[in-house]
Amino acid sequence: MIDQGVQRPIARGTLLSVLLITLLSFGNKLSAQDGQKLFNDNCGTCHKVDKDLTGPALKGVEDRVKDKKLLHAWIRNNQAVLASGDPYFTKLYNDWRKTPMNVFPSLTDEEIDAILKYVREYKAPVAAAGGGNTPADGKMGESDNMILYGVLTLILAVVALVMLGVNSNLKKLADDKDGLPSHEPIPFYRNKTYIALITVILFVIGGVFVSKGMIGLDRRKNYEPVQPIFYSHKVHAGTNQINCLYCHGGAMESKQASIPSVNVCMNCHMTITEYTGAPIYKEDGTELDATAEIKKVHAAAGYDAAKKEYTSEGKPVEWVKIHNLPDHVFFSHAQHVKAGKVQCQTCHGEINNMHEVKQVAELSMGWCVNCHRETKVDFVDNKFYSIYEKYHNEIKNKTRDSVTVSDIGGTECQKCHY
Ligand code: HEC
Ligand code: HEC
Ligand code: HEC
Ligand code: HEC
Ligand code: HEC
Ligand code: HEC
Repeated sequence: MIDQGVQRPIARGTLLSVLLITLLSFGNKLSAQDGQKLFNDNCGTCHKVDKDLTGPALKGVEDRVKDKKLLHAWIRNNQAVLASGDPYFTKLYNDWRKTPMNVFPSLTDEEIDAILKYVREYKAPVAAAGGGNTPADGKMGESDNMILYGVLTLILAVVALVMLGVNSNLKKLADDKDGLPSHEPIPFYRNKTYIALITVILFVIGGVFVSKGMIGLDRRKNYEPVQPIFYSHKVHAGTNQINCLYCHGGAMESKQASIPSVNVCMNCHMTITEYTGAPIYKEDGTELDATAEIKKVHAAAGYDAAKKEYTSEGKPVEWVKIHNLPDHVFFSHAQHVKAGKVQCQTCHGEINNMHEVKQVAELSMGWCVNCHRETKVDFVDNKFYSIYEKYHNEIKNKTRDSVTVSDIGGTECQKCHY
């Protein structure tokens, strides 16, 4: 339904893969990787293996829940297990102050086994030199190394230059001593060796900038593609005050805010078959035939408005996806909208005043990280933060007046990167 792959330059993909292989795949055992990815994708927002987070630490769960079938059932659909009144899970649910866990109907038994295997075999990463004990440290060490290599290369280049200079001076001295005619030293800007070296250095620096530029290429601030149906957020979420969550309910409970299917549109457009509101003007200044656009909704649903019945299967609307993070970034709407209480408009702009959606934020790493550094979390009243005892004590003792997202780990690499 949504065109995921639009406009992603292949070169950038390759470049990123290379970057990420060096940066992120460090230290992972291949065998555990599928389970680890599944865990990170689906469970990592709420669970850690060895620490309580929104949900309990999963370490040793197979000893606590010996019935494998029950455990699978819980992971796939905890709501059903709770509804069945299972005593262990009912108690657990109450102990966790009735925080609901997501349901994962699409996980297969093999996938759940892979996750459990990952949990079973999980070993806390050994801290890199310098201490610290978060899984980020291995990766941080790696990127520090890269900086170190860079610095070493520079030092070597400088040493090489100096040696060349010394060398030519020595040669001149030797020549003088032997009474050989010595020509004036060539000024450095005409010296071929220097020129070659400088070219190489400029080439490398240029390469770095070009690759940075390529990474930025896919950032599509102000991206506003033409959609198959001219659907106006201003008409729906603005004038008619329809709640964002009516159509993007996923934002409250999952990673994805998701785009509504045409059935959702038909809840209203079975009866609203023409547009009678204020005229809508397109980008090019011409007036939109909005009733014709509603007819497209009917066509997509296979609905015959004259007969007031569904006459065919219809076909899904192929909305063009606007916001798109690279695959190596983890972003969860629920974490921001529900736990963090961030308004949609903070990240998406005044959507309720836009006829057509336009990407207003850069979606760069800096954008995410800056907000995490600056934004204070509603610490005292939010049950998601009850695990941070230290901060709670500091607030009580008045040695701390606020907690930022960064304080609770929001700038750790592995929180945002798979
Ligand atoms: C939205 C947060 C959330 C997500 C996502 C989530 N869980 Fe949970 N999970 C919880 C909470 C909270 C509990 C505690 C019981 C409760 O309150 O529902 C829990 C309990 C559990 C338990 C029981 C633990 C025990 O000690 O007995 C298991 C097993 C579990 N989750 C596995 C998973 C797996 C596997 C995934 C990913 C496929 C996952 N969870 C995703 C929140 C979550
Ligand atoms: C009646 C249903 C409906 C309501 C209400 C609604 N939207 Fe949408 N939204 C859509 C549809 C359909 C699309 C896909 C077409 C498009 O991009 O315009 C969409 C697209 C979006 C996108 C861009 C998705 C992408 O591709 O990246 C954002 C962001 C968004 N909506 C945010 C909001 C916000 C914020 C609100 C509340 C102010 C809201 N929506 C209310 C139906 C709705
Ligand atoms: C909660 C009710 C509701 C839902 C759900 C809804 N609409 Fe609408 N829609 C309206 C109303 C109200 C109008 C304005 C009618 C008027 O002013 O005459 C409208 C107008 C329109 C128009 C003409 C104006 C414009 O936006 O270009 C289109 C096209 C349209 N809707 C498409 C959609 C699509 C596509 C969906 C599903 C993603 C959808 N609607 C879901 C209530 C709804
Ligand atoms: C903290 C910033 C932030 C907030 C708050 C936020 N979004 Fe998003 N939204 C994003 C990012 C980043 C993406 C791109 C996600 C991706 O590509 O995986 C996105 C993507 C979307 C999409 C495209 C479909 C999808 O899920 O990828 C829709 C629709 C959307 N957001 C709607 C909403 C609505 C509605 C709200 C409020 C209830 C909201 N967003 C709140 C940052 C945010
Ligand atoms: C407008 C501010 C804002 C922006 C922009 C933003 N975030 Fe956040 N983010 C928050 C807040 C507030 C929280 C705290 C929510 C919570 O965990 O309770 C958070 C939490 C998170 C967490 C969980 C951190 C943890 O310690 O558990 C992740 C992961 C995350 N954000 C990823 C992203 C990514 C990726 C982006 C960029 C695409 C992004 N965020 C952009 C405000 C923002
Ligand atoms: C708050 C979320 C967040 C955190 C924390 C974070 N990143 Fe990122 N990172 C992103 C986003 C979003 C992108 C994608 C930027 C883009 O597409 O332009 C990204 C991109 C990258 C890239 C690809 C190159 C680039 O600049 O686009 C690398 C490499 C990277 N991050 C490494 C790291 C490392 C190393 C850390 C820890 C020091 C880290 N990231 C911490 C969100 C985050």
